Amino acid sequence: MGDGNLDALLSAIPLPVLVIDSTERIIAANPQALTLIGQQARGRNYVTMLRQPALLDAIEATLSDGIARTTRYLGNDGAKDTTFRVSCRAVPGMGDGGAGSAVLSFEDMTDVEQAGQMRRDFVANVSHELRTPLTALLGFIETLRGPAREDKAAAARFLDIMQDEAARMNRLVGDLMSLNRVEGDERVRPTATVVLNDVLSSTQRSLRHLADEAGVTFVPEYPDQPVRLIGDADQLRQVFTNLVENAIKYGGSGGRVTLRLTVSAREPALRAPGARVEIVDHGPGIDPVHLPRLTERFYRADDHRSSALGGTGLGLAIVKHIINRHRGRLRVESTLGQGATFTVILPVQESLD
Ligand SMILES: Nc1ncnc2c1ncn2[C@@H]1O[C@H](COP(=O)(O)OP(=O)(O)OP(=O)(O)O)[C@@H](O)[C@H]1O
Ligand SMILES: [Mg+2]
Repeated sequence: MGDGNLDALLSAIPLPVLVIDSTERIIAANPQALTLIGQQARGRNYVTMLRQPALLDAIEATLSDGIARTTRYLGNDGAKDTTFRVSCRAVPGMGDGGAGSAVLSFEDMTDVEQAGQMRRDFVANVSHELRTPLTALLGFIETLRGPAREDKAAAARFLDIMQDEAARMNRLVGDLMSLNRVEGDERVRPTATVVLNDVLSSTQRSLRHLADEAGVTFVPEYPDQPVRLIGDADQLRQVFTNLVENAIKYGGSGGRVTLRLTVSAREPALRAPGARVEIVDHGPGIDPVHLPRLTERFYRADDHRSSALGGTGLGLAIVKHIINRHRGRLRVESTLGQGATFTVILPVQESLD
């Protein structure tokens, strides 16, 4: 087969593929391979085009002994670093003089590597979050067994702290399970009809105690007519509970938290009819640098303060997944010193009006 035919054959393969003959020249390559290693690769010596020692060693060895090898190639597509698994296989009797050639095919592993990295980060984060309360618990147990053995007052105090720390671990595990569940059914559309006014007023009822303790008054602004949509009432309650709880915990110094519900026949964010729930506080607000990352797992804008308040940093990650499941949007706006507004936009069906 001539080199031209070979190119035509390779261009029908969706992966980057190239052929190196026994004289070490690249005799054929498909467009994907040229994009990856350089447009001038055809006819060149492979060593000048492929410059990565592990890959060069593999090619050299395969050309000389005919045994297949697998190695890695690190690229960059202009936007990000990429990782390829390269398979290097011998093809006897091709190229000049019928001597052995090698065929290289590149498999893009970037997404797989990235998923692996995310999993490792997640495990590291969970371990770190659990270690802090566990270390505290172990320390107090030791103290109760030793120095504080006969000290009733100290023991009572330590047991209180131990209970808080254990409760914190319990919350973390609960949040992790919740996150797991909502991630699992993100693709399953909800089917029940939900009245948003009711979900909001029940959220308000369940958080009244927390609000009272923080000196926060709720300002509900709901329309008189019920706002119905297709959704999962428990999950939506979980969304508003976390947003209102955050408004109380982090923005409570502003004294008021507004829960506003509005509907629109044409919601710009959805290009369709939609309901908007705005949770507005008048506390310290959130520095804009934090806004893009706020819904990441374990992300806390003010790490110290949030941990002190018992936050795990998973609340908004759960919120985000639930809103995605409902094909909605989450918007966060904040001006430092003036508070924060979290807006949940959800599609409503016209036929339900
Ligand atoms: N209304 C708000 N005002 C100021 N900062 C906020 C507000 N809401 C959220 N934040 C910041 O965003 C961070 C992430 O919130 P998120 O609800 O995800 O976690 P959390 O409240 O720390 O923990 P969890 O909700 O799991 O108990 C918080 O730690 C806080 O720093
Ligand atoms: Mg929260």
